[in-house]
Amino acid sequence: MSSELERLLDVITKAVASLNLACSADGTRLPDIKEPFEPSSEKFRSNHQALQAARIISAAALQLEAIVAPPQVVLYHVVGGFFKSMALRICLESHVTEILRDAGSEGMYVQDIAKRNGQDPQKLARFLRYLCSNHVYREVSPDVFANNRISSLLDTKKTIEELQSKPLDKYKNSDGMAALVGHHLDECFKGAAYAWEALNDPAMAHMDSVTPLNKAYNTEMPYFDFLQQEDQGIRRLRFDSSMEGMERMQPPDITLNAFEWSTLPKGSKVVDVGGGVGNVFFPLAAKFPELKIVVQDLPEVVGNANKVWTERMPAALESGQVTLQAHNFFNPQPETDVSVFFVKHVLHNWSDASCVKILKRLRDASSKSTRLVIMDSAMPYVCRAPRNSDLCSDNLKESVAEEAPEPLLANFGALNETSYVLDMVMFVILNAQERTYSHLDRLLNEAGWVVSSVRRKPGDAAFVQIEAKPGNTQLKL
Ligand SMILES: C[S@@+](CC[C@H](N)C(=O)[O-])C[C@H]1O[C@@H](n2cnc3c(N)ncnc32)[C@H](O)[C@@H]1O
Repeated sequence: MSSELERLLDVITKAVASLNLACSADGTRLPDIKEPFEPSSEKFRSNHQALQAARIISAAALQLEAIVAPPQVVLYHVVGGFFKSMALRICLESHVTEILRDAGSEGMYVQDIAKRNGQDPQKLARFLRYLCSNHVYREVSPDVFANNRISSLLDTKKTIEELQSKPLDKYKNSDGMAALVGHHLDECFKGAAYAWEALNDPAMAHMDSVTPLNKAYNTEMPYFDFLQQEDQGIRRLRFDSSMEGMERMQPPDITLNAFEWSTLPKGSKVVDVGGGVGNVFFPLAAKFPELKIVVQDLPEVVGNANKVWTERMPAALESGQVTLQAHNFFNPQPETDVSVFFVKHVLHNWSDASCVKILKRLRDASSKSTRLVIMDSAMPYVCRAPRNSDLCSDNLKESVAEEAPEPLLANFGALNETSYVLDMVMFVILNAQERTYSHLDRLLNEAGWVVSSVRRKPGDAAFVQIEAKPGNTQLKL
């Protein structure tokens, strides 16, 4: 029987061969970590074989370190997490990535970086060296630092003069990644520091409406009201940019692939519940002009939606193909004869009780033929799902996330970090959560829905599309 170490090495060797084959068949290559990030450098991942091989190699390498390095070292990777966050935030706020962009691969002496961002060079060198040890930035020679593929993700593409003269515009028209990182490293980081105090406070521990962020900022305001305060301008602008960025990271056909839209009769009504400005429905409106689309959200969001649709698809509004409607999803649903209720990235913002209320409102307004499409995360278990269980019935195999090969952790371990970070963000700022598939299934059943199919995005352990139909019985609110 070979050791776990040997089995991991074997998994890596086979996956490297598979990655090389896929790349040479496609004429792509693995990007150099020293080069700045470009979306095109990720092209090799569009080949499923390469994508899968890269995931296996990464997960195996992370696991390899956990079994070979001294346990104190592995523990301190976790303990030191907040110091990495601290060092990265300092670099983000003081525009180190933008300063290093112009220095190219040769890098820049830390004294010169400090002259441009006003930081203390001796301290900055320590923060940068810590990040370099974790593969963010490079120390090319003593005290000379350069960007690499990871640090360049923070590049807002603005000049240092622009950043310093218009600090509120730092994230405007950027790709959203720096904004998302800024949001996580600022209010989420501070809220996280108070998580235990919030949980351990008898007055707060069992209240869904109170969050660790409330404790950190000594406020009772819900997060989105907090962002609307006058002194929170930069945080609000950054949050909006980060959401736009997250949307841009999704493939444009994500909504087109969420349902067999072509099976709906002409004139069928589709309602996007909590749809934001409804931007994920642009491709649907363009490809299926015969569908009637209703985008519902809170009144202030509908105002924005109007501007966005008037700019991008005015004809869809004028012809009545698309209606933008102010509607609070906790109130009775005004639309009837609905073919599809579409609920994307809404449930993860709410507690179980609130999710059931939202889903029941939709069930109340449904006919037998109405379908519900949920797009959200369904967090995988770290262990393997038991076979032939409720989690894996024959017709819903996709309810179980794709598992990594043995001896890897079934959920690809820390390679899945982003999904867990988002789950923690939901906890810290909203006291909400990303759920497992069986948790979502339970809430749907409670609200009178029965899951009929599940689809997953290849190469993504968490993202899920669930289609449900009305069940026979339903509890009244
Ligand atoms: C995370 S966003 C998702 C937006 C959109 N579905 C998407 O995936 O891009 C959640 C949306 O829920 C909306 N929302 C929050 N509370 C609401 C309520 N009570 N009624 C209707 N919409 C609400 C927010 O305004 C926001 O647009």
